[in-house]
Amino acid sequence: MKSLFTTIITFSLFACNQPADNTRILQNRIDTLEKKLADTYKPGFGEFMSGIQAHHSKLWFAGQNKNWKLADFEVHEIMEAVVDIQKYETERNESKKMGMLNPAIDSVNNAIQKQSPALFKSSFILLTNTCNNCHHAANFEFNVVQIPETSPFTNQNFKINKDK
Ligand code: HEC
Repeated sequence: MKSLFTTIITFSLFACNQPADNTRILQNRIDTLEKKLADTYKPGFGEFMSGIQAHHSKLWFAGQNKNWKLADFEVHEIMEAVVDIQKYETERNESKKMGMLNPAIDSVNNAIQKQSPALFKSSFILLTNTCNNCHHAANFEFNVVQIPETSPFTNQNFKINKDK
């Protein structure tokens, strides 16, 4: 009788410990995953900006060559980077202001749709001024964006591909 009693006690202790063990195992897994997540590589604000800089330049040369398909592609790359900054750079105040580019991006899109070099130029100037407006507001006024003079991408042809 005594041994049966001990067995029951042991079982119930075991049964009681089970959820506690599971909780500990789960907590360990959560800790490991959180550590992995914290160590995941994430581009910095400046890296996103360097990407935007490249697309800003390519957009200009595409527009200058009336290569509207390429211009459309490049402006969409800028739009994607804006969304990515808002998603991945939540701790930066400037991320909340990225939407200030939208009106200028809309007019670039409009110029591309209308295939109008004049509208393209004025909307590109508006876009470039908006870049600088934020740099001023964010105390990065020493980072001046301008209309590119020559393409740094000599390995990319901005003219319309006539072979197709
Ligand atoms: C809402 C604010 C904001 C807007 C809009 C913005 N920028 Fe920036 N930009 C920043 C901030 C902040 C930095 C500094 C990033 C850092 O801390 O490394 C920066 C940095 C840069 C740099 C320097 C990157 C480097 O490492 O040399 C370039 C180039 C740049 N931006 C280009 C642009 C262009 C082109 C546009 C417009 C199409 C633009 N930016 C629009 C906030 C903005």
